[in-house]
Amino acid sequence: MKIAFISDIHSNIHALKKVMEEIEKEGVDKIICCGDIVGYNAFPSECLRVVKEKVDASVLGNHDYATITGNTGWFNEYGVAGIRYCRSVLSDEEIKFLKSLHTHLYLDADGLDIYVTHGSPRDEIFEYVFPDVSDELLLQFAEIADADVLVFGHTHIPMERRVKDKIFLNPGSVGQPRDGNPMSSYMIFDTESRDATFKRVAYNIDAASKSILEKNLPRFLAQRLYLGI
Ligand SMILES: [Fe+2]
Repeated sequence: MKIAFISDIHSNIHALKKVMEEIEKEGVDKIICCGDIVGYNAFPSECLRVVKEKVDASVLGNHDYATITGNTGWFNEYGVAGIRYCRSVLSDEEIKFLKSLHTHLYLDADGLDIYVTHGSPRDEIFEYVFPDVSDELLLQFAEIADADVLVFGHTHIPMERRVKDKIFLNPGSVGQPRDGNPMSSYMIFDTESRDATFKRVAYNIDAASKSILEKNLPRFLAQRLYLGI
């Protein structure tokens, strides 16, 4: 089975549409989102619509959670501005959809148990699992999740780590990459060969950036898209 993983879309419809176009050419069996559909950028409703239509399942990210609850205590000013904007434009129906998301999900394919969450197995919404995390901690996470393959979001940085027979992945971010490469990131995982393929897609950053400024969101959110930070 070929599964496309996307994550951290963050209301960037220009990026999401390009990524979905590319994924449609790949002939995948499933599309899974590792959370943070909304926040930061200008088009939360539009992104929710695409996710509802085209994505098989998504987990709940910290920005999705903050949009539901209004609790932004742990965010910087840019995060707070994005959440306020989301709460002002999303319909009750769209908030209801965010509320329906779970903090993790499991997939079972070709004898592999695949666990998907936004953060980590011990703190599914908030903890960051960065690419330089220790082997020991990764193995602990595999034990907590009781899975062979663990897929995270949240860091906005693509990751592939293999420790013993366990695989740890992060597709990177569709809507706000932070690894210095401004192109949208996603990943295809082949459950038969166990290969992860990371993909980058160029999109119209000018349009995304302009929309951020038009909605009076912070200028830094418009600038960072060009830098991939
Ligand atoms: Fe995020």
